[in-house]
Amino acid sequence: MANVVVVGSQWGDEGKGKIVDWLSEQADVIVRFQGGHNAGHTLVIDGVSYKLSLLPSGVVRGKLSVIGNGVVVDPHALVSEIERLKEQGVEITPDILRVADNATLILSVHRELDALRENAASKENRIGTTKRGIGPAYEDKVGRRAVRVMDLANLETLPGKIDRMLVHHNALLRGLGEPEISADDLYKELASVAEKILPYMDRSWQILDEARRAGKRILFEGAQGALLDNDHGTYPFVTSSNTVSGQAAAGCGLGPNSIDYVLGITKAYTTRVGEGPFPTEQQNEVGEFLGTRGHEFGVVTGRKRRCGWFDAVIVRQTVCTSGISGIALTKLDVLDGLDEIKICVGYELDGERIDYLPASQGAQARVVPIYETLPGWKETTKGARSWADLPAQAVKYVRHVEELIGAPVALLSTSPERDDTILVQNPFQD
Ligand code: IMP
Repeated sequence: MANVVVVGSQWGDEGKGKIVDWLSEQADVIVRFQGGHNAGHTLVIDGVSYKLSLLPSGVVRGKLSVIGNGVVVDPHALVSEIERLKEQGVEITPDILRVADNATLILSVHRELDALRENAASKENRIGTTKRGIGPAYEDKVGRRAVRVMDLANLETLPGKIDRMLVHHNALLRGLGEPEISADDLYKELASVAEKILPYMDRSWQILDEARRAGKRILFEGAQGALLDNDHGTYPFVTSSNTVSGQAAAGCGLGPNSIDYVLGITKAYTTRVGEGPFPTEQQNEVGEFLGTRGHEFGVVTGRKRRCGWFDAVIVRQTVCTSGISGIALTKLDVLDGLDEIKICVGYELDGERIDYLPASQGAQARVVPIYETLPGWKETTKGARSWADLPAQAVKYVRHVEELIGAPVALLSTSPERDDTILVQNPFQD
């Protein structure tokens, strides 16, 4: 029996939704451990499409779903997501949803600050955030002035917590020449939602410890991707949480020995939304082809995603930083019909060949990809359910990817349909 962590191994949007849904059917508990409603994925079950941002995917299947302490929770966004799913016939009650009492709340002040900073930043300094308040909420968490879920349970002590937070924010707003925030308004914003959130509040560490001891299968559902990790990503063009698999433990209150298998969701090419370095980006007809064929538009913001060739250097690095046991390779069918396919196998930096993504912002912007060119295939891979259904060149491409990144393909996804999957190894039965 294994517990599985799912992480994105590029810049997010690798197609985690379908794989997480497939795994959540086999899991007993599904837990989110970082990020917030900046994430977005679409689950298609029996022809019905469900859009999730903050809720763990398990809710759609009626599985116990936990929002861990590492998540930043916008209480109003949570309530509206629950209502939206209820309208689609998904019943969400405290029997299936629990929210960690020590998770940090995202307030309107965070959302406004996120947008204010993004709009004021120059083109070079803009991160391209989702403007959902993620960064400012995490800043308040590590700055030890955040309001947390359990604070909603004690409305008498809430004004003091709000005041402590506003000392910081109002100074900032004054400096930016913006109107200050009233403590009273913030109090009302929180008090109005408290009773809708409190029934779900629980101790995430305890629920998961009990599940673990009872031999239940836990699925840790990562959001974003390893290159958006606050330490290991393309800093400062990253999100404000750790997105690597190690965060799965800290982000819900378990120890690292609760993780048995790390599945890295990996797209057969590369995409990124927002600003920041992207060495294999193709701002040409190849990028257009990939974007159109792959329907590369963001679920949360609707933004067009930047597209480029598969970058084996960054995925190889993620295999290390997330301890990836195997990958789920997605969207191979998007490459169908190309005459040739390129894979980045190394970079040239200031005249020298390197085989890693350097940490510095300047060097990341200067690296020039070194490509290998492979022949494409004319047949379709869409809907393939066994290796025998794949053209020989497509099999060669997949095998080469495995070799370059140093991790095996555990699952190969060949269309958004859940059954269009080639299973090599079930992560839960590792
Ligand atoms: P933030 O997480 O809203 O602060 O945005 C920081 C960066 O992460 C931006 O480049 C976003 O586009 C990116 N980002 C955040 N969430 C996702 C996601 O779920 N998929 C892909 N990119 C994301």
